[in-house]
Amino acid sequence: MVLDLGNGFILRHATAGDHPALCMVCLKTGAAGQDATDREDDPELMGLIYAVPYQVFEPELAFVVEGSEGVAGYLFGARDTRTFNARLAVEWYPALRARVVDPGPDPTLWHGSHWARRMVHHPHLDIPPPLAAFPSHGHIDLLPQARGSGIGRRCMAFLEERLAAAGSTGLFLDVHPANRNALRFYERLGYAALAGDGLPETSVFMAKRLPRG
Ligand SMILES: CC(C)(COP(=O)(O)OP(=O)(O)OC[C@H]1O[C@@H](n2cnc3c(N)ncnc32)[C@H](O)[C@@H]1OP(=O)(O)O)[C@@H](O)C(=O)NCCC(=O)NCCS
Repeated sequence: MVLDLGNGFILRHATAGDHPALCMVCLKTGAAGQDATDREDDPELMGLIYAVPYQVFEPELAFVVEGSEGVAGYLFGARDTRTFNARLAVEWYPALRARVVDPGPDPTLWHGSHWARRMVHHPHLDIPPPLAAFPSHGHIDLLPQARGSGIGRRCMAFLEERLAAAGSTGLFLDVHPANRNALRFYERLGYAALAGDGLPETSVFMAKRLPRG
């Protein structure tokens, strides 16, 4: 255990054995914070894009929230987004591309997990200029049974402390614009939406500076 989160939940490091659970949590929170099970026809693919790589490439900042019924969430950090994305490009996406076929560029022809298949073949790994002041990024997704009792706040404070201790000066989270609950949550925790040139309309980047460790 790394941290007692209260209410019967703990935070512990994620392991390779957690990969199926990471994919499950990603699927069940993947529709702007809601369950994406009915939308996806490849239930693992979102997790292989948004969750599993953190355990593989940054295991010291990869955690699961665990309760009496098993894994109920995850918390990930990447200390240096540029380095992390560079590794994804070289060490992660080539193998995933061998697993899925590119559905092509026309979204009107996509269905099921085609959007994710397209992402695998054309990942968004460039870092827009307004994010330069925030070298780290994070991800948090909790299943419904772990929400609404302060676990998200405690997890984010823990991640911020770890990143600051590792010398990071700031972090951001990439939030779906329709995920109003998450946007309000991050605002409550002192994050602000970035504005500026080069930011995609498909995301809201919530960012916060970290005190020097
Ligand atoms: C978003 C999420 C991480 C928040 O975690 P949580 O444990 O439910 O949030 P907490 O209980 O720790 O809330 C922390 C603070 O944010 C506030 N908050 C949380 N959700 C809120 C909402 N929808 N509207 C307004 N305030 C909210 C709480 O009131 C609390 O304020 P306080 O500590 O000052 O009293 C969690 O609900 C979740 O995983 N949701 C589904 C997946 C998701 O959307 N992930 C984020 C993807 S970017």
